[in-house]
Amino acid sequence: MATQVALLVIVALGFCCLAFAFEPKPLQDFCVADPTSSARVNGLVCKNPMLVQANDFSFSGLHLPGNTTNPVGSRVTPVTVTQLPGLNTLGISMVRIDYAPWGINPPHTHPRATEVLTVLEGSLQVGFVTSNPENRHITKVLQKGDVFVFPVGLIHYQHNVGYGNAVAIAALSSQNPGVITIANAVFGSKPDIGSDILAKAFQVDKSIVDQLQTKF
Ligand SMILES: *[C@@H]1O[C@H](CO)[C@@H](O)[C@H](O)[C@H]1NC(C)=O
Repeated sequence: MATQVALLVIVALGFCCLAFAFEPKPLQDFCVADPTSSARVNGLVCKNPMLVQANDFSFSGLHLPGNTTNPVGSRVTPVTVTQLPGLNTLGISMVRIDYAPWGINPPHTHPRATEVLTVLEGSLQVGFVTSNPENRHITKVLQKGDVFVFPVGLIHYQHNVGYGNAVAIAALSSQNPGVITIANAVFGSKPDIGSDILAKAFQVDKSIVDQLQTKF
């Protein structure tokens, strides 16, 4: 009997944590973000529904190419809850990504979202790496119209392998997916992670770490 109860508790705990792994389902039609509120909640405070307008559910300008003149040769134009307040509590957002020829969207991870990407123009080599200890690299070249999914939390990237510009649209399963670009987070943190720590972690000479830290 005691073991059955214990089993039930374990199963119940499993369900509770599964549910918490995703954004909670809304308990009302919408909760348009009120950027003026100073209240601290998980997400953003709702605007008075009577004051909500069509524009709160809308964003304009995703037809415009992003400026890819930068060292990586890509630009992400986000449409998250920051740009589109109506996304608050809905567990979804999107981005447009522009790539110069041979540009990359460098290895990064979204701590709160799975991403599903569609190529609108050009050819992209994409990939992600599975967790330890396998660290399997799953990669594919995508053409216009192809769709690829990057599972939540995994490190992934895209690389324009065509001679022209490339464009992609991606949907993300969070109103605020977050992004951690690996190189910037590891070599560009403020204050620095000690170069002796990074030299040991990456198994390279400290001077190589110092050089990387000056770049980020
Ligand atoms: C794109 O960005 C570069 C580098 O910051 C800048 O020099 C250039 O003027 C920008 N181009 C446009 C069209 O905004």
